Amino acid sequence: MSKKLNISTSLEVYENLQELASEDFLLMEHAVQARSRAYAPYSEFAVGCAILLENNEIVTGNNQENAAYPSGLCAERVALFYAGSQYPGVPVKKMALTAGPMSSDFFKPVPPCGACRQVISEYEKRQENGIEIYFMGTGGKVVKASSMESLLPLSFDKNYL
Ligand code: THU
Repeated sequence: MSKKLNISTSLEVYENLQELASEDFLLMEHAVQARSRAYAPYSEFAVGCAILLENNEIVTGNNQENAAYPSGLCAERVALFYAGSQYPGVPVKKMALTAGPMSSDFFKPVPPCGACRQVISEYEKRQENGIEIYFMGTGGKVVKASSMESLLPLSFDKNYL
């Protein structure tokens, strides 16, 4: 007999940026700045990411596209891989993301793509501490996930290898 497995998740929604605590507001401001430097001539969809590390450093990234489309990389992975290479072993506390088309405002919160969730999940499990993720469009509501577990339940990890 099969059994039903219910998985629930819980996210926090802020009406706007101003509702964030000052540290989180500042982090999102870094993401907004990073987004303005995105290289996204093909999709014209710009994404910015800012990461707060345990040592209080802030590392940013944005999407970097390529004429050979799959060779490009998302903002989250650009930032996270940079953080991992520059500050190995320093835990990631928080990530802030902002995304939307270059030519207009976009007020729907944009969550990280599946591949980035997988990468963030690896960092989270490795450091054995949750990573807070704040995401928004180019403005409007901000969604907070208290860890990647809330956005990627049943994730694949080294224990399956
Ligand atoms: N993109 C990101 O940078 N992060 C995501 O989580 C979703 C998608 C980028 C990839 C590509 O440059 C553009 O957005 C459109 O997909």
